[in-house]
Amino acid sequence: MARQILLDAIKACEGRTALDLGAGGGIDSLFMAESGFNVTAVDISSEHCNRIKAYNHPNIEVVCCDIRNYEFEGRFDLINCSFVLHYLKDDARGFLANIRENTAKSGLNIVKVLLGHGYYGHQTGFLLPGEIQQVYANWEILHYSEAFKPLRYKSSMTTGKQLAAFMLAKKS
Ligand SMILES: C[S@@+](CC[C@H](N)C(=O)[O-])C[C@H]1O[C@@H](n2cnc3c(N)ncnc32)[C@H](O)[C@@H]1O
Repeated sequence: MARQILLDAIKACEGRTALDLGAGGGIDSLFMAESGFNVTAVDISSEHCNRIKAYNHPNIEVVCCDIRNYEFEGRFDLINCSFVLHYLKDDARGFLANIRENTAKSGLNIVKVLLGHGYYGHQTGFLLPGEIQQVYANWEILHYSEAFKPLRYKSSMTTGKQLAAFMLAKKS
């Protein structure tokens, strides 16, 4: 489902600039670049940033920083914010406002985020079930679902399930 949302976003997007926040190993960035987007990939991990740089793709610019410190220069047609918001804890809500503001007219946001229900249910700072939909209430929601995502921790050898939200929305 996660990949289908990206495919749908690429298909529906009218512009060609994309921002991948918390880009990880850059799979989504690469996919968007190969689909004709000019991509800015942002990640806090220098290891991940170097991995994306190693693709040496002419349409991917890599910015290695905390997404909270990323300085938006212009608005993006597609912003992908996949499984990074929960790291921001209490800053996540304010950061969502930043993403929405820096999306071009008719632009798209992909938000995939772990919610405060399940394995981490006891922790504070997570977005709650249904909350993303409310935040984007004045956008056109093209997809919204919630599903349990299996988690595995190599360090503690434990596994768990965490509720996650998957959203694709278009700015009106
Ligand atoms: C679970 S991975 C998700 C990677 C990719 N977006 C995906 O969906 O497969 C989370 C990524 O967010 C990055 N990250 C965590 N906190 C961050 C922050 N404050 N600023 C930028 N990147 C961050 C991590 O380094 C990691 O690459």
